[in-house]
Formats: sequence, C-alpha cells, structure tokens
Amino acid sequence: MRIGVLGFGTVASATVDSFVSNRDLIRSKTSTNIDVVRVATRTPARAEGRVPAGCEISDDCWDVVNDDSIDVVIELTGDVAFGKELILGALSSGKHVITANKALLARHGDEILAHAEKAARSVLFEGAVAVSIPIIKTLKESAAANRVSSIVGILNGTSNYVLSQMSEQGVDFADAVRDAQGKGYAEADPTLDVDGEDAAHKISLLAALAFGFPIDFDAVEFSGISDVELIDIEFAQRFGYQMKLIAHARLVEGRLDVGVEPTLVENRSMLAQVRGSMNGIALHGDLLGSAFLYGSGAGGVQTASAVLADVLELANRGSGGGPADLGFQRGKTTLPEYVPALDRTRAFYIRVQLDDRTGSLAEVGAVLAGAGVSVSVLHQDRSRDGVTDLIIATHTISTEQLGQVLPLLRNVAGPGHSVVVHPILDAEIAP
Ligand code: HSE
Repeated sequence: MRIGVLGFGTVASATVDSFVSNRDLIRSKTSTNIDVVRVATRTPARAEGRVPAGCEISDDCWDVVNDDSIDVVIELTGDVAFGKELILGALSSGKHVITANKALLARHGDEILAHAEKAARSVLFEGAVAVSIPIIKTLKESAAANRVSSIVGILNGTSNYVLSQMSEQGVDFADAVRDAQGKGYAEADPTLDVDGEDAAHKISLLAALAFGFPIDFDAVEFSGISDVELIDIEFAQRFGYQMKLIAHARLVEGRLDVGVEPTLVENRSMLAQVRGSMNGIALHGDLLGSAFLYGSGAGGVQTASAVLADVLELANRGSGGGPADLGFQRGKTTLPEYVPALDRTRAFYIRVQLDDRTGSLAEVGAVLAGAGVSVSVLHQDRSRDGVTDLIIATHTISTEQLGQVLPLLRNVAGPGHSVVVHPILDAEIAP
C-alpha cells in the first residue's frame, strides 16, 4: 500500500516520524506492504532527512493526488478549502483518504462521504476527534448496534489545558494558551480552540455518527473559554465543581440537543477528573449502558497514532471501500429536529455582583421567585470596598426562565457590576 502525505506541519511530520520509528511494528500487523512514498509540503526543506528512504518530497500537493501509483492519501494540510479540493481529487482518482481535518469534515463531510461512496473509496478520520480516544471506531463499530441517547465530552485539549492551568496553578489565560501552542496542542489558529469552534466541529461529527443524521455544523451553538474568569473557576471549586468546556449531543424525546459551552461539572463526575490536555467522553446507549473513554486529546504524535491506526485498518481491509467507512449513515438526508433553545432545561450557576446594601438580597430573591426559579445553593461572599459577589446555583430551569431573570438581575446589580452565568452539567449524563 503506497501512501502519500499532504502537509508537513505538526501532525503530518509526527505521522511520518512515527511511521519511521514504528515501521517494523506496523508492518508486523498486516500482510500488506506499507510504504510512505511521497510527501508534499510548501516547505520541502522541513521534510528533508525526516522521510523514509526513497520517499519523494514535493512542493505541490497535486503531485501526490495525481500520482497513479499511490493508493492512500493522508490529508493533513489543516486547510478547509484546499483540503476539500485535494480530498475530492484523491477520491476521484481512486485513492482512499485518511484525514484529521475536523473543520473540513464538519462543514463538508456529507459531500465528501457521498463522493467517496460513488468512488467506492474510504474516508477514515479517527484522528479528527479526541486523538488518543478511539471514539470514531467506537461509534462505528463497538456501539453500532445501540440507540445512542447522549454523548457528553471534553473534546478540546487546549481549552482543558488552559482551564486546568488557570484553576491549578493560577496561571493567566494568555500564558496558558501560549504554553498550549508551544506543546503542539493548539490549532494553527488557537482562537478555534478557545472560542469553542474546534469542540463544535468534533461534536457535530460525533452527533452525526451516533444519531445517523447528516452533519449540521451550523446547528451547533458554541461558546468558548476566553471570557471565563478565574473568580468563577474558584467559586465553582468551593462549591464542589470544576469548570470545563463541555460538548454535548443528546436526543430528548426524538429531538437533538447539541452544543458547546463552559459548564460546571460536579467533582464526583469522571469528566471533572479530566485534566490538562486530556479528553474524556461519556457515552450512553440502550444496549451498552454507560461508557467513559479517556485519553490524550491533542498533540502531534497522539494524532499520528490515530492516523496510523487508520492506515492499518485500510491495509487489513484490502482494496475495497464500502459501507464500513461511511461513518454518517447512508441514505439519511433528513436533518433532525432540534430542541428549541428556549425549551432547554438545565441548572445554572449565577454570580451577581452587588453593592453591599440593605435589601439587595431581597431584590434578587424576588426576581428569582417571580420567574419560578428555585435556588439550590446561595452564598454571599465577604464584601470588598462595599461590593459583594452573590453566588446562586439554581435547580433545573428552562432557558426561557433564565432569559426572564437575567435582565432583572442586571438591574439589581446596577451599572459596572457583572452578572455571570454558566450551566451546570446534568449529573444523569455525566457519570
Ligand atoms: N487543537 C486540538 C485540541 C487538537 O486542542 O484539542 C486536535 O484536535
């Protein structure tokens, strides 16, 4: 099996290095001869001396895509528009494709997989989500006979690393992001990590795989961690929670609820124990019950591990493509019905900054009672310079109720004072 690699950035170079370092082991697991025969990169000098003997280095990706002697193209350019052209070109010319390009799959996955089906070629993408966790293979294979009801996870290693550094070391947000970039966790554009978009790409792929709908990236509401304040991480910890960037996809009475946002997770949940650049995924299915998967969520070598697993899958499958590669279920073209945002019900953490004056607590109480919001935790912090933080954890309420109370709480808080809200993860879907 002759392989061409597109790109030579963090993941592509780690893939080639890992192939070279583990070549004998990889070859011992298949009767197919596997060789990396071409690498294409805009900066060929980076690849000199790092490719296997006899591997050609080119500065034009189309040299690889148009090379008839190549069986498998590994697309690791990280570019959505160019990556799509290259993948479609590779499939049209009869090659199987392996990619870790989740942004591309989230936006164009259905088109690409339809193209692959027509060409009877495979598109494998284990490296696209939670790199060291075999979640794509789990959903396609191990959990295939299940009606999956929910997937909840920490899917962005960079954000989890940043939140962990902030909560454990008191490190500043910008320093923690720089550190994550230096360690090779972050995307080329780290705003994709910290604004929640990368996790949204990943949960849209998992939702499509788990529930058998076409991918609908535009339906995924997401927000990231760049506005998360250290004070809320600390209050969360005082009340037995960790702040995590949680991606969720679940079916509620046949309707899909999917999104990404900074969320408080109870300490007793396994998701709360996921620290640093690790990822964790809780899965519920009608047959399997609950499963929790944990592993590295980012890093060049860790992604290479998933990409090379796809290489072995193709090598051991033989030359055909086939339904097993079609992660998103065939013939399913109808988009799901979504849970309307206002109907969503959750518990919330609310921090209201208040002037420490007689009656402000009663005003907050009246606002909450007026909207039928029941409180499970209430704490007023010691005031500094006449200003105090009131911490409220609500029982389960609807987004509509939250929408009623927020402007009123802002009125009570007054100008220059903030009202901060984060959802609390439902313990039922977070073992
Ligand atoms: N930048 C991603 C993350 C890594 O931090 O999780 C690969 O998906």
